[in-house]
Amino acid sequence: MAETRLAAGPTISPAFVKELQGAISASQVLAEPEDRYLYGYDGTFHQSRPDVVVKAMSTKDVSAVMRLAYKHGVPVTPRGAGTGLSGGSVPLAGGVVLATQPMNHIVELRKEDSLVVIEPGVVTGQLHRYVEARGLYYPPDPQSADFCTMGGNIAENSSGPHGLKYGTTRDYLLGLEVVLPDGDVIRVGGRTIKNVTGFDLTRLFCSSEGMLGVVTQATIKLIPKPEAKVVLMAVFNDWGAGGQAVADIIAEGILPSSLEIMDDICIKAAENYGHFGLPVGAGALLVIEVDGFQESMERQAAMIADVCRKAGAIDVQAAHDPARQTDLWRARKVLNPATSRLAPIRVAEDVTVPRSKVPELVVRLKDVGREIGLPVVVYGHAGDGNLHPGILTDHRDPDKWERARRGIELFFKNAVALGGTLSGEHGVGYMKSPFLPLEYSDRAIQLMRDIKNTVDPKGVLNPAKMFPDARNPMQAAHGGGAAEATAATAAANAATSTPKAGE
Ligand code: LAC
Ligand code: ZN
Repeated sequence: MAETRLAAGPTISPAFVKELQGAISASQVLAEPEDRYLYGYDGTFHQSRPDVVVKAMSTKDVSAVMRLAYKHGVPVTPRGAGTGLSGGSVPLAGGVVLATQPMNHIVELRKEDSLVVIEPGVVTGQLHRYVEARGLYYPPDPQSADFCTMGGNIAENSSGPHGLKYGTTRDYLLGLEVVLPDGDVIRVGGRTIKNVTGFDLTRLFCSSEGMLGVVTQATIKLIPKPEAKVVLMAVFNDWGAGGQAVADIIAEGILPSSLEIMDDICIKAAENYGHFGLPVGAGALLVIEVDGFQESMERQAAMIADVCRKAGAIDVQAAHDPARQTDLWRARKVLNPATSRLAPIRVAEDVTVPRSKVPELVVRLKDVGREIGLPVVVYGHAGDGNLHPGILTDHRDPDKWERARRGIELFFKNAVALGGTLSGEHGVGYMKSPFLPLEYSDRAIQLMRDIKNTVDPKGVLNPAKMFPDARNPMQAAHGGGAAEATAATAAANAATSTPKAGE
């Protein structure tokens, strides 16, 4: 695993550690080599060790740590469970990793207001189970829900398969308690569905990737738990036909709760991983979930099966049995680890396009693989236009890594050319920051930097993330390698003539 560490930047002094231990408790400050190692990575492949790890138990702890770090100009990287896929919680500048995982209480449930108040260390799957046992529902479902924390979900605005019908984390945030970089504690938003008092700071902090504040409490909107669901599996020989079926289902006016796609490599990898009874040898598989009233299940399932068959599906199976439904979902959930096993590293990207462009995007992503001469695996939340193209490569081999880096750039250029975005749910972190100018104008990026500088003038919170930055390990690799003039490059280069958002 590559280790990166900024050359410049403050290093902490023994006096700072002493002050830290005095401000909270010595047992919450970890500085052993193994602690620093374990808190130095996330789901990406660059690692960087913090000088110390602080385990926060309360808002008071977070505030005390921030106040001290701010005073001394020490970098602080907030961290949930470290499952992120853009490098958000990798402490590139060293300093303090502020772990909010121990703050894992469900503070209050108000069924009559359909809301729950939680601390950031609550595991997303734990929240799912807690509210569902009470007839309520929290739809955002990152595929790491069994491990990831709500604090991380809020920092990255994570979503998952249910984004298609139910939206993303930000759509369920009513209010937040946030510790600012200087240690001050504020509340934004509130407990009401409607709230237009002042700027929408709740949304600003959501997806701010730990760069503007540390969320210490969140008030979450809940909805009634859907009564029933059916999970369908549609099998295609042809990858492109699978992509077309996605657009056809949406165009038909059907709104599944999830509409997932996986390619031939993914089908085999999932089957090898867990033996779910997937059709190994197929070119594309759709996993489609519909939910709602029991009476509507047969009808929705029949409509979807019909559209899939017309689009070329060779088999469509509807699972009503909860055990089979769980199996199909497990096959989908294991794709991240299952495809990661196929190479020394698998870069997982997160491009998103308007839904009508999914059929074109699925073809273009595979073209990129042919162009760079490396296997590209594709799966993801096709129904909401969010796909996870992955490149199987080896970062220790300069040639393979350079080709992978070029592939990443081509993914982004193709997404933007199709009217889409670099990231649907993983965030920018350090992985995508060199590529931000592909999507946003200089003026728009400057406005984001201005907001960061206003809230965090000393730049202590999560340095070297989101914006192009010479200190970023991906930035160093950016810009090299002449691309050949092939179809994928030509299609991607059309992005340069597409007006950038914000222009
Ligand atoms: C998933 C992660 C990669 O959908 O977002 O599996
Ligand atoms: Zn995903």
